[in-house]
Amino acid sequence: MEFYDFIDYKLNKTACESNYRQINFFIKNNSLPKIMIDDREYLNFSSNDYLNLSSNKEIIEEFNRANLKYGVGAKGSRLTSGSYDCHLELERKLAKLKNKESALVYQSGYCANLGIFSAFDDKNICFFSDKLNHRSIVDGINLSKAEFKRFKHKDYKDLEKKLKISKAKIKIIITDGVFSMDGDICDLKKLIELKLRYKTLLAVDDAHGFMVLGKKGKGIYELFDLNEKLLDEVDIHIGTFSKAIGLTGGYIVSTKKIIDYLINYSSAFIYSTALSPSNCKAIIKSIDIAKNMQAKRIKLKELCLYAKEKLQEEFEITNTKSTIIAIILKDSQLTLKYYEELLKNKIYLKAIRPPSVQKNQSRLRVSITLAHSKADIDYLINMLKKIKKDLSS
Ligand SMILES: Cc1ncc(COP(=O)(O)O)c(C=O)c1O
Repeated sequence: MEFYDFIDYKLNKTACESNYRQINFFIKNNSLPKIMIDDREYLNFSSNDYLNLSSNKEIIEEFNRANLKYGVGAKGSRLTSGSYDCHLELERKLAKLKNKESALVYQSGYCANLGIFSAFDDKNICFFSDKLNHRSIVDGINLSKAEFKRFKHKDYKDLEKKLKISKAKIKIIITDGVFSMDGDICDLKKLIELKLRYKTLLAVDDAHGFMVLGKKGKGIYELFDLNEKLLDEVDIHIGTFSKAIGLTGGYIVSTKKIIDYLINYSSAFIYSTALSPSNCKAIIKSIDIAKNMQAKRIKLKELCLYAKEKLQEEFEITNTKSTIIAIILKDSQLTLKYYEELLKNKIYLKAIRPPSVQKNQSRLRVSITLAHSKADIDYLINMLKKIKKDLSS
């Protein structure tokens, strides 16, 4: 097959399945809850900026100050020419937040997952990964020589069956904290129980929970009644600064030995230019602000509950306990139709289709942020109801 025949075949296939993707919009302004695309303003329900911090003045000022001090880029990878005092400051802060020895920051959450799992590159290792884990986890594991077992989504009996028969010398369980396309949450208590019973390591990626869930913003860890000793059984904390923190970057927090190992064996860390120092300084500021947003987090939780209760009266939604509410429409073409009709009504809510979700699981993934009001949510729900009615008549 000629190379371009192959490309054409693949593009035609995805188009026929209504899953073709295009970058068809260019954002000119994105101050939540509104988004300006090609000179038209929409109500935005597709943002991960849950605490609305990406436009926070104090954070922007810190970013600008750091740009003047350090320059705009890191100018090299950490090990050759780009390790700054603020990288260390941020890593110390993260380790303290998670009550662990050490941390390492990456250029994104995707890089953090790719960087860590590809580095555990040995045939004696077996990864046990939830089927709905984020793609970056899957990609990281696929780059490693280790064994790869996937257990059914949140089916811990299935996980236990797989753990029981595994002959691997080193077992690592990996889960998303909040599942990014569904908004549901892993059962941390059960996972710790299994980890202890089968003497495995446990890695949790709480990208969508960090600074969003729990009174103190400690993410899913605050939602379970676990003492410090049990919480310490999470061996590897993974997360991102690109959701609630409002910036870019990812992190791994763990023991000093694991972090030392990553510094030596994690290609995504070794061979890539570091997170920019100004981004780092802004992240530190953003974490400090986010830590003190208790009252705002309660407000956000109430807004999510409000949206969830109203949406489930009319639609099939996921069993969410987070800021993500997925309206399951199943069919990709139907999901696209909703998306297009919402756009006509000045709502930006992206259609999520395979391969981001499994076949016949297309959906509208609603993200609730602090910038939304109940009136915004009411407007969305009324529009959705109207579209549903129009499409069925
Ligand atoms: C669970 C999870 N991990 C990692 C990532 C990637 O993070 P980033 O956007 O910082 O690359 C995401 C983002 O969607 C995610 O949902």
